[in-house]
Amino acid sequence: MTDSRVIVALDFSDETQAMKLVDQINPALCRLKIGKEMFTRSGPELVKRLVNRGYDVFLDLKYHDIPNTVANACKAAADLGVWMINVHALGGPAMLAAARSALSSPESPILIAVTILTSSSHEDLLAVGIDRTPAEMVQRLASIAKGEGINGVVCSARESHSLRSSLGSEFLLVTPGIRLSTDNADDQKRVVSPADAIRQGSDYLVIGRPITQAKDPVQKLLTINSEISQL
Ligand code: C5P
Repeated sequence: MTDSRVIVALDFSDETQAMKLVDQINPALCRLKIGKEMFTRSGPELVKRLVNRGYDVFLDLKYHDIPNTVANACKAAADLGVWMINVHALGGPAMLAAARSALSSPESPILIAVTILTSSSHEDLLAVGIDRTPAEMVQRLASIAKGEGINGVVCSARESHSLRSSLGSEFLLVTPGIRLSTDNADDQKRVVSPADAIRQGSDYLVIGRPITQAKDPVQKLLTINSEISQL
């Protein structure tokens, strides 16, 4: 258990590399995110291993399917003992409601919705017949998610301020695309520093390469934790 707002994205091409990093850090310093690549390679066993080591695990599988399938997938994720899971808000109100009712106990994982992926441009939305800007869609989908009892959304820290104002203080904002001024932006186009993301209203920061590729990941994590704990 930790009070750190940092969720380290364990994006590695094999479990050995992932565990090499995990062995250097500990659950008091951060939470961990397992995404589609690691899950497809290493499966539930890796998730259980991390949970058994005391980590809060965000299982980032972005479920999007018929309501019954999503509800059952959410239950399966909850059975792994994870701390947070997510679904696509574009699955619509019935799918969101099914996910919510599948996770109705107080011990259930936190349930988050993905609105519009930050990699999607206005042109991408137009190409699939969505005649709204990404910003309008993010607001609309976040508001639908809140209406269905979803606990929060994944969003860009640049959207955190407006979502915080429109959706209130209890709605969780989980934000990737975080970089310190000394970091490489990699393929992230619109990066925000940890401190600015928290100032804009983000609750949790998803951080991958700035930590996983750092020469000293523990030191990097401590620097980020200390930057945001002073706010
Ligand atoms: O290495 P980096 O800090 O860019 O990693 C960010 C993590 O957040 C990755 O696991 C990526 O898949 C995830 N993510 C993202 N942008 C989104 C949603 C998730 O970068 N819109």
